[in-house]
Amino acid sequence: MKTLKIANIPGDGVGKEVVPEAVRVLHTIADLHGGLKFEFTEFPWSCDYYLKYGQMMPEDGLKQLQHFDGIFLGAVGNLNLVPDHVSLWGLLIKIRREFQQVINIRPAKRLKGIASPLTNPKDFDLIVVRENSEGEYSEVGGRIYQGEDQISIQNAVFSRKGTERAMRYAFELASKRKAKVTSATKSNGIVHSMPFWDEVFQDVAKSYPHIETDSQHIDALAAFFVTNPSRFDVIVASNLFGDILTDIGAAIMGSIGVAPAANINVNGKYPSMFEPVHGSAPDIVGKGIANPIGQIWTAKMMLDHFGEQELGSHLLEVIEQVTESGIITPDVGGRATTSEVTDQIISHLKK
Ligand code: NAD
Ligand code: IPM
Ligand code: MN
Repeated sequence: MKTLKIANIPGDGVGKEVVPEAVRVLHTIADLHGGLKFEFTEFPWSCDYYLKYGQMMPEDGLKQLQHFDGIFLGAVGNLNLVPDHVSLWGLLIKIRREFQQVINIRPAKRLKGIASPLTNPKDFDLIVVRENSEGEYSEVGGRIYQGEDQISIQNAVFSRKGTERAMRYAFELASKRKAKVTSATKSNGIVHSMPFWDEVFQDVAKSYPHIETDSQHIDALAAFFVTNPSRFDVIVASNLFGDILTDIGAAIMGSIGVAPAANINVNGKYPSMFEPVHGSAPDIVGKGIANPIGQIWTAKMMLDHFGEQELGSHLLEVIEQVTESGIITPDVGGRATTSEVTDQIISHLKK
């Protein structure tokens, strides 16, 4: 029996609504498989937790998580209770950073039965490899002066090691797919980091002569996501560029509610964390209409990560059987509730 010990952090808002749904799906898959078991341990760390205890997770929170095989997270953030910089840096970003989850993988593909806002949507199937530990999200900077002279400084930090690591990850991934990597750059802008990014990209590309490469300025690339996403296979992007591109990737799929993601620890020292692209969706919380597909597809990425690609591929096929049947939530034009979509996925799995 293969047992996977998973730390569940539903977090805030719709995170609390979609994580239990994905857990139901994972238990079903494990039961049907027979040789696989999930042992979930739930942690209530969230903005509510902060109000009670003054921190997003306990002092030894990371220690508690460290020995799990993986972390399954919903969403973090409730601006009515706690400012974002406190909640996110106290939980989500803290885990990504401290557990060296340096790569964020974010696929986007056209799902059967879900309308894309693109006027002429061809099939697309791409993956953004987002550098997840540095770049524009560096901790270097601060505020100086006061009043109208006040200045806020943010230094983007691009290490050769971190940049190369993200790029190698993208090339390795493309080797198993359509063998094309696009680099998201901005070397025509007045920035120091992007000509450096381009240099590293060219260096890394030399080790992968069988992979086709392409480099696009982020502004043009964002537009191509809308006008012709089928030209892409794997895209490698810095932290902020990747963040923005993947919301566009989610939008062209039809809704951010379907977009999955995985934060990968590549050195094997800490667990990886699986969490969808979307946030806590305060505007729809409590209505029972949150789309569970982002979280369930994220569960598929977790299955893949643990070597269960066959189960993972089957789960995605089942998700598409359900979307194609029209049982979908309002964000993608349907009328189904969160649990109705999950129930359908479960009943298709059992067929
Ligand atoms: P959001 O993703 O929460 O919501 C954006 C829009 O998408 C909203 O209209 C929302 O209703 C919709 N949406 C999101 N998830 C959905 C789902 N599963 N089904 C249907 N519709 C869905 O982004 P936001 O409004 O910018 O952020 C809200 C809070 O979440 C903030 O505190 C933000 O910092 C936080 N946030 C957290 C994460 C994370 O934990 N990974 C990611 C993004 C935002
Ligand atoms: C995401 C989110 C986070 C990010 C925020 C909430 C810090 O937008 O996971 O895409 O920017 O990484
Ligand atoms: Mn984002």
